[in-house]
Amino acid sequence: MKTIVSVILAAGQGKRMKSTLPKVLHPVAGKPMIFYSLALAKSLGINKRIIVLGHQLENIKETVDSIDQEVHLVPQKNQLGTAQAMQEVVPYLTDFSGTILILSADVPLLSATTVKRIIDYHQKERVAGTILTAKLANPAGYGRIIRDGVGKIAEIVEQADLTEEQQNIDEINSGIYCFHSKELFQALALVKKNNRQKEYYLTDVIKILLKKGYTIGSITIDDPTEIIGINDQKTLSQVSQIIYERNALRHMEEGVTIVSPGNSFIEEQVEIGKGTIIYPFTVITSGSRIGQGCRIGPYAHIVESNIGNETVIFSSQVEKSRIGNNTVIGPFAHLRPDNIIGDKVKIGNYVEVKKTIIGQGTKVGHLAYLGDAILGKKVNIGAGAITCNFDGIRKNQTTVEDGAFIGTNNSLVAPVVIGKDAYTAAGSTIAENVPAGSLGIARARQQNIIDWVAKKKKQHEEVDKK
Ligand code: UD1
Ligand code: CA
Repeated sequence: MKTIVSVILAAGQGKRMKSTLPKVLHPVAGKPMIFYSLALAKSLGINKRIIVLGHQLENIKETVDSIDQEVHLVPQKNQLGTAQAMQEVVPYLTDFSGTILILSADVPLLSATTVKRIIDYHQKERVAGTILTAKLANPAGYGRIIRDGVGKIAEIVEQADLTEEQQNIDEINSGIYCFHSKELFQALALVKKNNRQKEYYLTDVIKILLKKGYTIGSITIDDPTEIIGINDQKTLSQVSQIIYERNALRHMEEGVTIVSPGNSFIEEQVEIGKGTIIYPFTVITSGSRIGQGCRIGPYAHIVESNIGNETVIFSSQVEKSRIGNNTVIGPFAHLRPDNIIGDKVKIGNYVEVKKTIIGQGTKVGHLAYLGDAILGKKVNIGAGAITCNFDGIRKNQTTVEDGAFIGTNNSLVAPVVIGKDAYTAAGSTIAENVPAGSLGIARARQQNIIDWVAKKKKQHEEVDKK
């Protein structure tokens, strides 16, 4: 698409969000709001892409860069309205002649199909401008489309400027448009701020272009959810919920059981195998892959992780880790990033694991911390065993070889190696390697003082007598 430029308007503060976070950084189904319009423009194959940023520009810039490195950033110093935002773009496009597609950063559900429809219409009909409109049961908050006696668009009136009668108009402006550059730039120069909000409205260019004798076209969308604009926290949550339920439906169609779709939060770009059951209050983030026949949740949080087949994850947090087949995690386990967990492993209650490799059939049943460790096959880690991996300066490795048995309440002071089939005694502080097949015991020997209680009692009685 060569004769087209896309512009995303994203400079506004988003006052109605009443938040300290810039509006476009609020998460929508796990991704920053700004992600959706940036990804959309990119997916259309538009080579020249612009984004207008103003409020908290520096904070937003980093996120924008992480999504689209090629998008051109145009600053809008004072946010005096959508027309003024577009005026800031004009100097960057002095050599350009063609279609300008205007997207809004707060309309994340808009589909590529709809945008292609409006571009096609605009370019075929050779109109000066095309507006994407929708009919809403509750049009409050949006600019309304005013049509003349024969159904032609006459102007757009903003919510704040509506007359009593105009309040009932159900056709709204989506804030998504195509314009021909030359006509748009001409009209922008003529926009005034004589309205209730004292802002330069981009919507005023419609009236201006019509007055000059140009034609304005429109496309009315069938599915009005696509053009929901997020201005407040309530709509933000509605839009996230729409995405989550849409994703859940897609997985159900592919043979995944989702017990309560309204209470399952599966982000986009997640793969789940057939026969897997997702229990309520489970969050699965983008980039995660879950195999077949698994049971996930309730209350599981899976972050960018890869999980095999027939694996069970009860209420636990799993971050950036790889887990094998037939493994059981939780309840209440925390897998911090960079673990590789094998098949038929059991990681039980209150176990924390970080940057650790665990071999097939190993059991870490309860109350343990494993950090920077390599565990072989069929290892048994007793309750309360801790790898002392950090010496205050650097992280050190603990290796536990195949078949080794670590007693309860052990401190494994890394770097340390527990050899194949070795044992460590309960309560030991293991600071030296234990050779294969040996027992490592490192604790004070127990001493019993016979009749100690009776002697103590007698002493007390004598003191009381005095
Ligand atoms: C706008 C439209 C309205 C439409 C609605 C659809 C105008 C005047 N009104 O209203 O007709 O029904 O979108 O969602 O355009 N922005 C800037 N710079 C500014 C002001 C805003 O870049 O100075 C950006 C915002 O960050 C936002 C977008 O433009 O992404 C729309 O601004 P917003 O204030 O949300 O406009 P609405 O009142 O929703
Ligand atoms: Ca808006």
